[in-house]
Amino acid sequence: ISSKWDPRGALIVFEGLDRCGKTSQCSRLLSSLERLGHSVESWRFPDRDTGVGQMISSYLSNQSQLDDHAIHLLFSANRWEKRSLMEAKLKSGTTLIVDRYAYSGVAFSSAKGLDIEWCKAPELGLWAPDLVVYLDISPEKAAERGGYGGERYEQLEFQRKVAQSYRALSDASWKVVDATLPIGVIEAQLREMAVDCISTCQEGKSLSELWS
Ligand code: TYD
Repeated sequence: ISSKWDPRGALIVFEGLDRCGKTSQCSRLLSSLERLGHSVESWRFPDRDTGVGQMISSYLSNQSQLDDHAIHLLFSANRWEKRSLMEAKLKSGTTLIVDRYAYSGVAFSSAKGLDIEWCKAPELGLWAPDLVVYLDISPEKAAERGGYGGERYEQLEFQRKVAQSYRALSDASWKVVDATLPIGVIEAQLREMAVDCISTCQEGKSLSELWS
C-alpha cells in the first residue's frame, strides 16, 4: 500500500547529439539499477507510440512537412501527454531513465533559428529532472560513428548548431560525461551518478517543475 510518505523515484534525463551513445547507456543503466534492486523504467522522447508521436515520426523520416513552430509544439505536446503518468510512476517510487526530454526540444528547434525563449515556453510546468546527464561528443566524432540513420536532423552541419544550442541551455547542475570514453567506464560513472540521485530523492527531495 503506497502512502504519501513512501520515497519517490528519481527523474533522470539523458541528453546529447544524435549518435552520442545515449540509447545504449540508458539500457545499460536500466539493467544495472534493476540488478541493484531499484524499481526503474526506461522511457524516451519522442514517444512514437502515441498519436502525436506518430506525426513526429512521420516528420522525422521526411514523410511529412511541418512548420518549424508546429513540430516544436508537437514534440512538447508529446511530453505533456505523458506528464500525469510520469508523476504517478515517480510518486509510486519508480525511477525513470529518460532518453531525451525538454532540452532536446529547445536545442533542436532553436538550432533552426527559433527564439530560445519561445522554444522554452511550452515546456514550462513539465516535471523538472532530478539529474540531467549530457553525453558530450563533438559533432564530427558523432558523425564518424557508423554514420547517421538518415532522419531529418542527422546531418553534420545541423548537429553543430544543436551542440551550440545545448551549450547555451546547459547550466552548472548538468553532469557532463565524455561520450568518447570506453563504454564500460561511462557506464560506471552513470551508475554512480544515478544511485546518488536516487538516494537524494528517497531522502525527501521534492518534485519540481520546469524551468527550475
Ligand atoms: P530520437 O528518437 O532520440 O533519435 P533516434 O531515432 O536517433 O534514436 O530522436 C529523434 C530526433 O528528434 C532527434 O534528432 C532529436 C529530435 N528531437 C527534437 O527535435 N525535439 C524533441 O523534443 C525531441 C525529444 C527530439
